[in-house]
Amino acid sequence: MCGIVGYIGKEQAAPLLLEGLSKLEYRGYDSAGLAIHNGTDVEISKCKGRLKVLSDLTEGGAAMQGSLGIGHTRWATHGAPSDTNSHPHINANSSIAVVHNGIIENYLKIKNRLLEKGYEFQSQTDTEVVVQLLDSYYKGDALAAIAKVMTKLDGSYALGIVFKDRPEELFAVRKDSPLIVGVSETGKFIASDVPAILKQTRDVYYLENGEIVRLTRNEVNFYNSDLEPIEKEMKTVQWDISAAEKGGYKHFMLKEIHEQPKAVRDTINPRIRNNDIVIDELNMSEEDIKNLKKIFIVACGSAYHVGMTGKYVIEDLARIPVEVDMASEFRYRNPILEEGTLTIIISQSGETADSLAALREAKEKGVKVLGIINVVGSSIAREADNVMYTWAGPEIAVATTKAYSTQLAAMYLLAMHFAKVRGTISGEQFDHMLQDLRRIPDQIQSILDNGVSKLQYIASHYVAVKDSFFIGRGVDYTTALEGSLKLKEISYIHSEAFPAGELKHGPIALIEEGTLVAALLTQEDLYKKTISNMVEVQSRGARVLAITNEGNEEAAKVSEMAIYIPNTDKHFTTSLSVIPLQLLSYYVAVGKGFDVDKPRNLAKSVTVE
Ligand code: G6P
Repeated sequence: MCGIVGYIGKEQAAPLLLEGLSKLEYRGYDSAGLAIHNGTDVEISKCKGRLKVLSDLTEGGAAMQGSLGIGHTRWATHGAPSDTNSHPHINANSSIAVVHNGIIENYLKIKNRLLEKGYEFQSQTDTEVVVQLLDSYYKGDALAAIAKVMTKLDGSYALGIVFKDRPEELFAVRKDSPLIVGVSETGKFIASDVPAILKQTRDVYYLENGEIVRLTRNEVNFYNSDLEPIEKEMKTVQWDISAAEKGGYKHFMLKEIHEQPKAVRDTINPRIRNNDIVIDELNMSEEDIKNLKKIFIVACGSAYHVGMTGKYVIEDLARIPVEVDMASEFRYRNPILEEGTLTIIISQSGETADSLAALREAKEKGVKVLGIINVVGSSIAREADNVMYTWAGPEIAVATTKAYSTQLAAMYLLAMHFAKVRGTISGEQFDHMLQDLRRIPDQIQSILDNGVSKLQYIASHYVAVKDSFFIGRGVDYTTALEGSLKLKEISYIHSEAFPAGELKHGPIALIEEGTLVAALLTQEDLYKKTISNMVEVQSRGARVLAITNEGNEEAAKVSEMAIYIPNTDKHFTTSLSVIPLQLLSYYVAVGKGFDVDKPRNLAKSVTVE
């Protein structure tokens, strides 16, 4: 993870870098630092703590003069968060400074070799070997030294590099960690992600693996790893600048929760034409779809939960067997990928290391990969055979909400499209479902319009809860997985999710007086079964919160409180029932006084294994 920004241009670099880093804090926020070339020397300021600490230390950047610099916000992997382990890292005579995102896997071997040569190390980081290696190879030709270092490094890296004797140049390189180059009228940028530079420019280049970029005040030069100059095409980012700002909301998470109607609408509407679902970017003929024998859905975190919902929906509608894997497992378990298999990788960032590795595993075995991705131009988007973009816009809060909701919408579109082509649902059912699909954004809006104050009230009752369980059957189980993750990741309340029918096989032993059990009941044919499970936990002291369809009064009778969601097709209920669960988690975390957008130990974009 970690966030990188770099600048060379006409303006003061430090304030611009701090501004850029503030948009990258979602990538890590345990320490931060800047290296600024002041025309003579490379000055460093870095410290443990949030970006605010660095900003205070440098008087908002005013204390560091210079128009060339690099900045970093860290999510510690090697070496605990500390002033010394913060980036940038610098060599002994302070002539080279480096910021790094990724992991140098062979750093110990390199470090030992450098120690033998007499190099001394200040930090416990893997990154420090990069700057010391550069020191050992740099004989006046920066590109040659960088290319040489690249041949020595295993693992993943995006690097920003500044040399003391090169006050007019900024260098960067990437392998398996994202890096973009931005060009504005007043300067040039490098950044881990678009939001960091969106205020300055929308004109960007995407660096590919193994490519090096040299930025001067007037030029941008790209090279391959053999140092041959290469041409790259400039792309224009479509994201709106305001999308990366809080816009009056207390937290990005709350803003993003409220952006869901639009995000889901933007994902669904362009793919509905003449009362049919048209997914041009799928690039699959009717024949291809009919010949599908199996689908693997591979993802991490909340995107994995979307995959779980997708399994229920696709299997039920399109009658194609679906296997859902966590990317970290899929990549190492030698999955059976045969002809007729489609692999779907779901990822908001398009940069998650395990998901990217899973994609490569599938492609290597000759299976087509469809990416369901939010960030245009991200690594997974570029490497997948086909990409279906979710149009959620930039998501900043670590805990995903709107990207998750758009991924669900993508699953429904695919399931319905496959089902129609394969003839596994009737035209009448398809038309009916299409109507319900179109209504989802408005229904989410109505939950937000009518439910926020109620959820605030409900959340206030559960702030002191120590343990919680989320239960459900069918797609409700998959919603339970997401609701449970949301609560634990931002409120730090212990939480687990179970299929309601599984409770009796162990988890029920954990129910005590005051345990919160959130029960999801949106599948009418399963109401009775889940109600029995609610009664079982209630009689053992649990405080039961029901999330159910309008009109299901039975659920209210066996729960402390009940939340009602509007009626929709049974395959789509996750899109509605998850909204109160997001709000519940949000208000519980706010009630506990936690930093909702930056939960402890987490980062949004997990670019390490
Ligand atoms: C992190 C985030 C989650 C996200 C997961 C997968 O854990 O905190 O919100 O679901 O990564 O990320 P991706 O970008 O691949 O969707």
